[in-house]
Amino acid sequence: MKRIILAAALCLAALPARADRVRPVTDPETLAACGECHMAFQPAFLPARSWTRMMGQLSGHFGDNAAMAADKAERIRQVLVAGAADTGGGKAGSKALRGVGQYDTPQRITELPRFAAKHQRIAEREWKRPEVTSKANCPACHKAAEAGLYDDD
Ligand code: HEC
Ligand code: HEC
Repeated sequence: MKRIILAAALCLAALPARADRVRPVTDPETLAACGECHMAFQPAFLPARSWTRMMGQLSGHFGDNAAMAADKAERIRQVLVAGAADTGGGKAGSKALRGVGQYDTPQRITELPRFAAKHQRIAEREWKRPEVTSKANCPACHKAAEAGLYDDD
């Protein structure tokens, strides 16, 4: 028992050291709706204006149809906007916005300058591996991506 408590205490102590933790999605409705086809991406990776644009065109979502009832879309938009890079995104958010124009509304995290910079050492064939297939498949390489941890490699 004592050992378990000690282990738990050590885990807790290790958490604050994860300075780059990206706040994960916790809202159940957003998790369910935006985690259906891919992981629920952390709002801190895109600015608020990007999320608003995305939520306004869900029937044409990267070649897919992610449409939902308008009131639900609006609730989810608010969750995303509250945690966006330029609102509640904290340190991870300001990093994500590096090199993004003030009025740009990027839709892909994987096309941000920050993403390119952090992944420049990854060879083209890595992205094409059958267990990866897309840059957007964060959890294929970052086992704790959904918990907002990316400095695990
Ligand atoms: C019906 C399936 C589906 C649903 C539901 C869905 N998406 Fe997507 N989404 C996709 C597909 C397909 C892509 C493109 C994936 C790829 O390029 O590998 C994508 C890509 C994305 C990307 C860009 C990833 C990148 O390349 O950086 C974001 C951001 C995103 N979705 C957010 C959302 C949000 C927010 C929701 C909830 C409102 C949502 N998605 C719901 C299918 C879906
Ligand atoms: C093919 C595997 C792969 C995929 C897919 C991938 N990454 Fe990475 N990512 C890496 C590797 C490897 C590193 C470390 C690179 C280095 O240190 O040079 C990294 C680094 C990062 C970092 C920087 C971590 C730090 O603390 O410096 C972030 C943030 C990140 N990835 C986010 C993402 C997100 C978000 C996605 C999905 C949209 C994603 N990655 C998809 C392999 C991947």
